[in-house]
Amino acid sequence: MDFYEAITTTRAIRRYHDEPVPDEALRDILFAATRAPSGSNRQGFRFIVLRKGETADAAKSLLAHAGRAVWDRKSVADGYNRGSGHIADSPKARMAATMRNYVENFQQVPVVILGCLQRHRETTDLLDGGSVYPACQNLLLAARALGYGGVMTGFHRAVHGELASLLGIPDNVTIAATLTIGRPIGHHGPVRRLPMSKTVFENSWDEAPDWAVDPEGSVFTTARW
Ligand SMILES: Cc1cc2nc3c(=O)[nH]c(=O)nc-3n(C[C@H](O)[C@H](O)[C@H](O)COP(=O)(O)O)c2cc1C
Repeated sequence: MDFYEAITTTRAIRRYHDEPVPDEALRDILFAATRAPSGSNRQGFRFIVLRKGETADAAKSLLAHAGRAVWDRKSVADGYNRGSGHIADSPKARMAATMRNYVENFQQVPVVILGCLQRHRETTDLLDGGSVYPACQNLLLAARALGYGGVMTGFHRAVHGELASLLGIPDNVTIAATLTIGRPIGHHGPVRRLPMSKTVFENSWDEAPDWAVDPEGSVFTTARW
């Protein structure tokens, strides 16, 4: 797959066919993840793959429960049940339906991957996330290139302690991401983002350079705030 095509079509995919992801595909996806950069090349990223079996089912169940609670709160807080949320087929209503379907069926997701960071210091420094999230994005890009789709979520946050006990995760390791992967239902379509003129500056804040022009065919959306 062309590099820019992969970048511009790696969307959040939350609906999957009930089809297992074979070991070879997982190997290639996780190979890409483990090629990511990290601070001082410490490579503190670790990935726990959860598919089937007692432990995987128990972990998925914790995450499914957490995901439902997250969406219950967010759907109200972000007004998915207000305004155009009531209009069938509006972007808001479609997003709400996708999210509801995702969290209700989380237990059946073919693959859940916990992206973890083995910390080398006690810190809440944003930079430390840079030693695990590039690996997560490599993982999603590789999944896309191989015909799979996925999304990163924060569902682990409410159940970090329970997951750590269940999976034997040591104290110096933080779960940074819950990723789900599977064969997508539907197609990927292009990502919609802000135009570069709103996000790329030169020399001063908010000074968009003349050269920051999106390629023809780019599709845009506004930010949520
Ligand atoms: C830091 C981060 C946290 C996210 N958390 C969640 C989440 O908890 N649940 C979820 O369904 N998607 C989550 N996502 C996925 C985003 O909602 C998604 O990437 C974004 O809406 C863009 O979607 P698109 O690529 O399909 O346009 C998260 C993404 C990022 C980067």
